[in-house]
Amino acid sequence: MTTTLAVAMMALHDDLAQSLFAHQVALLDRDFTRAASTLQRFRTQLLAHVDDEERHVLPHYERLGGDATDAPTRLFRGEHQNLHKFVDEFVQRVEALRQRPDDAALLELLDRQATFKNLLLHHDLRERNMLYPFLAARLPAAQQAAILQARTWSGG
Ligand SMILES: [Fe+2]
Ligand SMILES: [Fe+2]
Repeated sequence: MTTTLAVAMMALHDDLAQSLFAHQVALLDRDFTRAASTLQRFRTQLLAHVDDEERHVLPHYERLGGDATDAPTRLFRGEHQNLHKFVDEFVQRVEALRQRPDDAALLELLDRQATFKNLLLHHDLRERNMLYPFLAARLPAAQQAAILQARTWSGG
């Protein structure tokens, strides 16, 4: 049985959530060295996933008429940019905490991450309910499989 594009791509969001969780547990432990390394792992996975979608998924969506829906391509790209900016901000903040642990700064970081997680949730829902079902209905199975093959990050 071949895995569908939607199932395989959405499964990566679960991997991302697990990586972010590991990072936040390190923050709770006030282990800022581990927080930095787990954040780096999350950042690498997130950016690889975003890059795969922008190179291999969104061009099909655009070509097949996705821009005429309530979720145009620019919305996905804009959210990707926003997620990227947040994660880069977290890298700076964790580095600052590593240099000088500070409770107020830690709480501020967790607040920022709550905002980020909200954005991530909305992005997840938009892809789950709009992007991937749209492609599932229009993209031949062979092309869906080709996208999965072309990915630089396929989990783990
Ligand atoms: Fe995604
Ligand atoms: Fe995405």
